[in-house]
Amino acid sequence: MDLLKGILYPKHTIDLTTLKRNFEGKWVVITGASRGIGYELAKTLIAAKANLFLISRSEDELISLCEEANNAGRKAMYKAIDLRDRSALEQFCVDLKQQLPEVDYLFVNAGKSIHRKLTDSFDRLHDFDRTMDLNFRSLVALSLALQPSLKSTKGKIIYTSSISTLYPSAPGWSAYHASKEAANVWCRTADAEFASFGVKMKIAYMPLVHTAMSDVNSVYKKMPAYSAKEAADILAYLAINRRRSYMPWWARISAPIAYFISPIIRFFYRHLI
Ligand SMILES: NC(=O)c1ccc[n+]([C@@H]2O[C@H](COP(=O)([O-])OP(=O)(O)OC[C@H]3O[C@@H](n4cnc5c(N)ncnc54)[C@H](OP(=O)(O)O)[C@@H]3O)[C@@H](O)[C@H]2O)c1
Repeated sequence: MDLLKGILYPKHTIDLTTLKRNFEGKWVVITGASRGIGYELAKTLIAAKANLFLISRSEDELISLCEEANNAGRKAMYKAIDLRDRSALEQFCVDLKQQLPEVDYLFVNAGKSIHRKLTDSFDRLHDFDRTMDLNFRSLVALSLALQPSLKSTKGKIIYTSSISTLYPSAPGWSAYHASKEAANVWCRTADAEFASFGVKMKIAYMPLVHTAMSDVNSVYKKMPAYSAKEAADILAYLAINRRRSYMPWWARISAPIAYFISPIIRFFYRHLI
């Protein structure tokens, strides 16, 4: 199992000197910082002496991360907000622009995963609204609101997407995949449009990571996967290198093959699931 994990999930650890060279004294915004990948990213960047603005609903976790950052001599602020609440998000975007005149990195990482078949969703339109609002709309809102702040530093926006969007759409995942794929398309379009003022968009097509989100599925829980810390290292690695996206090596091989044989996969989905 360890060998398989080592092959499929190679680490992208960055030494502290490199992290500090890229993040020390920089302003970094992280959504979904209260747990999982975003929490580990915040811890990593506190060690790298970054200044942090942390966002999620759970206030206690954000306060304790900010205290840890302040005790280590960094500046840190937070906002406890439900990013699906449109009017709260609108006001927050106005406030954030004033609070952060300069932003070097915006990690849009807060996300919600949902697995429910369409045949069980006839009276559940709200599932799609909520997933789109968090996984897609909050990316757009924060990226637009922080454009002046990112422009002033030639900053970077890093979106935590999912590797599953690279493969034929699997039953049950329509809300999650549609929201993540909408975000991917938006990031790729924005990358072209923001290029003139130096802001770069980056997409992490993240494979399985053991967090509260994925571990609700007992099958996923037993599979080899990245830890939240290893996934956070991937986000930091993507942020500071020249690449526009990250995906594991095997996705570069298997995703084109999967699309080539997608009629067979769709037949399987229609008749066997
Ligand atoms: N885990 C995986 O296997 C995997 C694979 C591919 C991609 N991803 C992506 O990675 C990202 C992070 O996921 P994770 O695995 O670290 O999940 P997680 O442990 O469940 O953490 C999700 C984070 O998002 C925040 N969040 C959730 N709903 C929110 C809302 N309505 N408003 C504001 N913040 C909200 C949560 O904080 P609060 O609950 O405190 O609000 C938490 O900090 C997601 O975008 C996910 O789609 C994960």
